[in-house]
Amino acid sequence: MVSKINLTYLLSAICSIVMIGQSVDQKVADLLSKMTLEEKIGQMNQYNGFWEVTGPAPKEGNAKEKYEHLKKGWVGSVLNVRGVDNVKRIQEIVVNESRLGIPLLFGSDIIHGYKTLAPIPLAESASWDLKAIENSARIAAIEASSTGVNWTFAPMVDISRDPRWGRVMEGGGEDPFLGSAIAKARVNGFQGNDLTANNTIAATAKHFAGYGFSESGREYNTTNVDDYTLYNVALPPFKAAVESNVQSIMNSFGLYNGVPATGSKKLQRNILKGDWNFKGFVISDWASIMEMTLHGHTTDLKEAAEKAAIAGCDMDMESYAYIKHLKELVQEGSINENTIDEAVSRILKVKFNLGLFDDPYKYCNADREKDLLFNSKHQDAALDIAKKSIVLLKNDTKLLPISKQDRIAIIGDLADDKTSPLGSWRIGSDDETAISVLEGFDKLGIPYQYEKGCTLINGKTEFTQELSINTNNKTGFTEAIELAKKVDKIILVLGEHGFISGEGRSRTDLGLPGVQQQLLEEIYKVNSNIILVLMNGRPLTIPWAAKYIPTILETWQLGTQSGNAIAEVITGKYNPSGKLPMTFPRSVGQIPIYYNQFSTGRQEKQPHVFWSHYIDEENTPLYPFGYGLSYTNFEYGKINVSITADGISASLSIKNTGEFSGEEIVQLYIQDIKSSYVRPIKELKGFEKIYLEKGERKQVKFSLTKEHLGYYTPEGKYTCEAGEFNIMIGPNSRELSTVKINIANFN
Ligand code: GLC
Repeated sequence: MVSKINLTYLLSAICSIVMIGQSVDQKVADLLSKMTLEEKIGQMNQYNGFWEVTGPAPKEGNAKEKYEHLKKGWVGSVLNVRGVDNVKRIQEIVVNESRLGIPLLFGSDIIHGYKTLAPIPLAESASWDLKAIENSARIAAIEASSTGVNWTFAPMVDISRDPRWGRVMEGGGEDPFLGSAIAKARVNGFQGNDLTANNTIAATAKHFAGYGFSESGREYNTTNVDDYTLYNVALPPFKAAVESNVQSIMNSFGLYNGVPATGSKKLQRNILKGDWNFKGFVISDWASIMEMTLHGHTTDLKEAAEKAAIAGCDMDMESYAYIKHLKELVQEGSINENTIDEAVSRILKVKFNLGLFDDPYKYCNADREKDLLFNSKHQDAALDIAKKSIVLLKNDTKLLPISKQDRIAIIGDLADDKTSPLGSWRIGSDDETAISVLEGFDKLGIPYQYEKGCTLINGKTEFTQELSINTNNKTGFTEAIELAKKVDKIILVLGEHGFISGEGRSRTDLGLPGVQQQLLEEIYKVNSNIILVLMNGRPLTIPWAAKYIPTILETWQLGTQSGNAIAEVITGKYNPSGKLPMTFPRSVGQIPIYYNQFSTGRQEKQPHVFWSHYIDEENTPLYPFGYGLSYTNFEYGKINVSITADGISASLSIKNTGEFSGEEIVQLYIQDIKSSYVRPIKELKGFEKIYLEKGERKQVKFSLTKEHLGYYTPEGKYTCEAGEFNIMIGPNSRELSTVKINIANFN
C-alpha cells in the first residue's frame, strides 16, 4: 500500500514532470487555476519586514496578523528582510505551511551596492562608462543575492533638471539619452543573462513616471509634466529598461495629468503594458495607493484599492489596501476577477523567471554570504568606477597632480569621514566602512598634516531623521588657518554630509552647507593654493569657489573606495576622466537649468532689455552638462559628416596633445533646426569614451539613424521629419564644432 508520504512525493514528481514541458505562461496559468481569491490577492500584498530573527514579528503593524497571513499564503513579497537566516526562516513558513507554498519575493533598495558600495548612481553616471556601470550593478546583485535578496528596487531612472531635489543622487542625471543607456546597463547588471542563476536578481525601474519633475525640487511635491516632455524626457529611460527585460516597475508618488501616477491607467496600462508590451509587474511606491486619498483622488482606502488595481498597479507596498479590500471589491462586482488574475499572473511569472519554484532557497546559502560580501574583487571594481566617476572642474594653475616635493595640508571634516562617502542609500552596508581621504593618502604613503577646520553637523544622525547642520560653530578654524600658512598646497575637502542629499532631503540653498564657505574664504586669505575636493550628492552652486579657487575636483559620494580613488587622482596615479551628467547652476534662481533647452523667440542678446535673460545673473550655467577636464589635453579634428542609407555618419580624429595619457568622453549632439514640434537647441545622441597615450591620435565614428533623429509628439507618436540638422561634436555640451546637413527624406 503506497504510504501517504510516498503518494505526496509521487504526485509532486508527476507535477514537476508535467511542469518541465510547460512554458512559464502555462505554469502560471496552471498555478493560477488552483488559487483561491484570497491567495491571488495575497500575491499582490507586500509587507515591510523589520522581522525579529526569532520569527516574523515586524516591529510595525500587527505582527501576529502578518504572521498568520504568511501561513495562509496571503503575502506575495516582503521588503527590508535580509540575511540568509532571516530569509530562509520566513520562506520556510510560506513554502511549508501555506496551502500552495508559493515562494516569496524578498525586495530591498540595493541602489548602488550592498556591503561593498559603489559611488552613488549620479557619480557613476559621471563616468559615462557603461561597462563599469553594468559591472557595478552586477556586483551589487552578487552581494545582495548572497544574503537572500532576490529583487532590488533599482535602478531609479528618473530624469531630473532640479538639484534642489535630494534624489538626483540616485539617478542618471538630466539627459534622456545618457539616462537610457545607464538604465539599460544597470538592469542588465542586476539581472544578468540568466535570471534563474542564484547571483542574479529582479530589477525595478522607478519611479514611473515623472517623479524627477517634483515642483520646486521639493520632495514628494506635485509634478507637472506635459505630454511632450513626458514622452521625450521622462519616459525614454523606462522604455530602455523595459526593452532590457526589467522584471518590475515601481510607480511614483507624483501626479500625471491630475491623477496620481499610482492610479494612472494611461501610464500603467496604455503606455507601459499596452504600447510597450511590458511583461513584468508594477509595484506601488511605499503607501502610494493609500496616499491617493491624501491627494484628493479617492474617498478612502477601498476606493484607492479599486482605482489602483484597475489602473494597473499590480502590487501594494505598505498600504494594506489590497489585502483589506480587493476581495470585497471583486465580490461586489466593482472589480472583475480577471483584473486580479492579470496582476497575479505577472507576479507569478517573475517568480518563475527567477526559478523560485524550482528552488525557493536558492538565495539562502550561508557560505556564499560569507565568501562574497565585501571581497577583494568587489573592492577593486568599486575603486575602478570610483576613479572614473571623479570630475576635474578646474585646474588653472596645475596644482594637480601634486608632486612628492609638495608640503600638503588636508583640511575638512569630510576628509576624515568614513560614512558620508557611502551616500544616503546604504541599506545593506555598515557605517564607517568607507576608505576616508586620509586613509587613501596613508595607503599611498603621502605625507600630510590634517586639521578638521570645522564640523559639518551637530551630533549623530540616522537615515530617517533630520540633520542638525552646524551653522555657527567655527571651532577648528584657527588651527586650520595656521596650518594653511605653513604648506605648499591645501587639499580642502568640503561638501555634504551623507544624509544631506537623498530621499526626503530637498534643499533651497545649494551652497556649501554650514560654515564651510567661511572656512574656504578664511583659508584662501592666507594661502590660495587650494585644491577644493567636493563631496556631495547633487550639483552645488559654488560661484565664489569657481571664481577664486584654482583647482576644483568633484568627487561626489564615491562609496567604499572613496579615499583611495581620490588619492589616486590627486597624486596623478589616475588621470580624471569624468564628465558631468547634470548641469551645475550659478544660482538656485536659474533652476531648472539644463543643456537641452528649447530656443525661445528672444534668445539673442539685444541692446535693450527685451530678450530672454535675468537682470541679476547670466543665463549660462557654472559648469555645463558633459563638462570635465583632464590632466592632459585633447585636440578635436574636423568633423566629417555624410548621409548614409539609414541616416547620418559623423567622424573625426582626436589627438592627445598633453603630457599625460588619459581617457576622453567624446560627445555627439544634434539639433533638428526646424520641426513641427520645436526641438531642443541640442540633444546628446552619441558618446564614446576613448583612451589615448601621450601623442596618440584616434578616429571616432558615430552612426545616426531614425531612432536618433526623431522625437515623440505629445500623443506619443515617434516622428522623423526631413530637413536641416546641426551635427555637433566636442568634449562637452558647450564646446562643440558644428556641421549642418540636410536630410531630404527618411525612407
Ligand atoms: C521609498 C522610495 C522608493 C523605495 C521604497 C522602498 O519611499 O520612494 O524608491 O524603493 O520606498 O524603500
